[in-house]
Amino acid sequence: MDPLPEKIVCIGAGYVGGPTMAVIAERCPTVEVTVLDQDAVRIAAWNSGHLPVFEPGLAEIVGRARGRNLRFVEQQAGLAALAEADVVFISVQTPTKTEGEGAGKASDLRYVEACARFIAEHARGHTIVVEKSTMPVRAAERIQQVLASNRTGATFTVLSNPEFLAEGTAIRDLLQPDRVLIGGEDAAAVATLQALYAAWVPSERILTTGLWSAELSKLAANAFLAQRVSSINSLSALCERTGAEIAEVSAVVGTDSRIGPKFLKASVGFGGSCFRKDLLSLVYLCEHHGLPEVAAYWQQVVDLNEWQKSRFAAEVAAAAKNRRIAVLGLAFKKDTNDFRESAALQVVRSLLRSGCEVLAYDPQVDGARFISELGISAGFTAVSTARQALAGAGAVAVLTEWDEFRTLTWGEAALAPGATVVDGRGIVDRAAVRQAGRGLRVIGSPPA
Ligand SMILES: NC(=O)c1ccc[n+]([C@@H]2O[C@H](COP(=O)([O-])OP(=O)(O)OC[C@H]3O[C@@H](n4cnc5c(N)ncnc54)[C@H](O)[C@@H]3O)[C@@H](O)[C@H]2O)c1
Repeated sequence: MDPLPEKIVCIGAGYVGGPTMAVIAERCPTVEVTVLDQDAVRIAAWNSGHLPVFEPGLAEIVGRARGRNLRFVEQQAGLAALAEADVVFISVQTPTKTEGEGAGKASDLRYVEACARFIAEHARGHTIVVEKSTMPVRAAERIQQVLASNRTGATFTVLSNPEFLAEGTAIRDLLQPDRVLIGGEDAAAVATLQALYAAWVPSERILTTGLWSAELSKLAANAFLAQRVSSINSLSALCERTGAEIAEVSAVVGTDSRIGPKFLKASVGFGGSCFRKDLLSLVYLCEHHGLPEVAAYWQQVVDLNEWQKSRFAAEVAAAAKNRRIAVLGLAFKKDTNDFRESAALQVVRSLLRSGCEVLAYDPQVDGARFISELGISAGFTAVSTARQALAGAGAVAVLTEWDEFRTLTWGEAALAPGATVVDGRGIVDRAAVRQAGRGLRVIGSPPA
């Protein structure tokens, strides 16, 4: 087995960089891990008792490694660490471009390119540069070009090592990954990265491929996951019209061993910072490479998801007995404080624009941050308990599958007379809602 690298640096202390480096540091106590970010507030939070990312188990792991072989430092304070690093991970955002060629679809690589320039300037000797961010296929070419323009004589190998963790289960996914993927042509560099992961991941789960296959595999994996969500959601609409029940259909379809039961739950639509942007990136790549039919195929997965969110918002507005709506859940899924691209953003915006007042509760999302992303504050109030959100509401929109929403005591909720619960996750206790004399609509279930 190749020796472990001695020093590694990660640029980007976000939802991926922070947890991933914490797990590497915890599992490889001899490796010095330095995480850099240009956002000083985020770095201060990583060094505090209130981490910027909420993930079950994360605080404990950070607690064990921080100050031992794990450091979070502001970008400019990390120059020495960068100069000495054997391996540098790039783990910054790759959002959808908002201007220029490919706007609205292509991935914006400006943050990645800024990292490459920074590494080119400050790295010394030979450094393995690892794409941890999700990239369009052949992005490594651009990184290699930027790195090659350095004036210090430093040399580099670029590898692709996309991250497959899911928010909400990030620590479990990192500790027991289905697979770790390393793409690259330089066998020695691949072996170094393999050695790092082999400290806790069984070798048969560490897959190696060519660089371009690794880059595309990450986009492909997210596209397949999102496609399953849109497939089941398309059928949820048909269930509502025909008397079929989507939970029963999912259970039956999922027992086919060729299909499997995961990711077959009907919902208000997928959210999160990845699926939409990665699908759009794939659509753009297909268009760019002269494959309009393939682009249209994947575009429909995005379009169906948008339609699912908008039809849900319309249903909530139509069900409301007054203009006051309780929203339960702002995070894009349970067990995270991340609300990027969450269904709540679109549903709440739509409700506010149609003149509703929204009282929202989420156990982890910061209301002020949500409002600033929402862009509209009039009519929106974030409250600190579900009970407060429900008081006086003419309709309830359940948008995140937090466990506490499964066991709400509907008999005690002070909803307005005639109020309806509209469940976008299929999780509420249906008998309890009906016993409390409330109307109920569940996504993918025919009206009772
Ligand atoms: N969030 C997920 O669940 C997930 C899962 C797998 C892969 N990914 C991919 O991983 C990448 C990172 O995602 P994320 O959710 O961690 O993003 P994030 O926005 O949470 O974090 C990115 C961090 O990078 C920092 N940054 C940006 N440019 C910088 C620069 N030049 N120098 C220093 N710091 C810089 C930002 O300040 C920010 O803190 C994306 O490409 C994403 O698609 C995300």
